[in-house]
Amino acid sequence: MEKIIIALDGHSSCGKSTTAKRVAAKLGYAFIDTGAMYRAVSLYFHEHHITLTNPIEVAKALENIHITFHFNEARGASDVFLNGLNVETEIRKMYISQLVSEVSAITAVRKAMVAQQQKMAKHRGVVMDGRDIGTKVFPDAEVKVFMTADPVVRAERRQKELLDKGEIVDLDEILANLQKRDIIDSTREEGPLVQAVDAVLMDTSFMTLDEQVEFVILQHDLVKAK
Ligand code: DC
Repeated sequence: MEKIIIALDGHSSCGKSTTAKRVAAKLGYAFIDTGAMYRAVSLYFHEHHITLTNPIEVAKALENIHITFHFNEARGASDVFLNGLNVETEIRKMYISQLVSEVSAITAVRKAMVAQQQKMAKHRGVVMDGRDIGTKVFPDAEVKVFMTADPVVRAERRQKELLDKGEIVDLDEILANLQKRDIIDSTREEGPLVQAVDAVLMDTSFMTLDEQVEFVILQHDLVKAK
């Protein structure tokens, strides 16, 4: 069987990217972190003071945004580049998390990103994590896993991630941000965060990373065995 597409969708901070990265490495597949793309767009909009409600400004900005991924040997993962500049660290900061849901709810932004994501994975052999991969970007993905976890567990994980990068943020602030993003992500018109009917649910509240990776690999193996 040819290489397939593995779509990992779900809520923020339930381990999607880390799981996707590990699954991709095990299978020799590419890993595409679509959240990083929306974060990079948000950074550009922030730096260029784009008015989110002005469709002309948004469309012009999108024409000037070029997002690429380049493998970083030291990290063992790809860094995201915005117009040739490595923005991997900047896009993970809290001020971008506070902006990204609003930016990613803009239809023109979603159309531009979905088109790029479809191009990036046209040869398949990809693990892609996001919110609408199994529903919008690749409704024909062979494996679809929808990830969720208890909001407090997610907030604690996110707090640790930020702390590891030297950013100290109050747990309540993180929890409020996650819950706000859940609402915006799930209720937007274009590509809302919703479990695809043919996706398998994985609640990671009490799972280790190894268990999450194994679970996804098992879904892959089941499809391959058919
Ligand atoms: O996965 P993440 O938390 O880095 O994603 C950041 C934001 O980007 C998230 O709040 C929703 C948005 N996003 C999206 O709308 N569609 C995707 N495919 C991926 C992310």
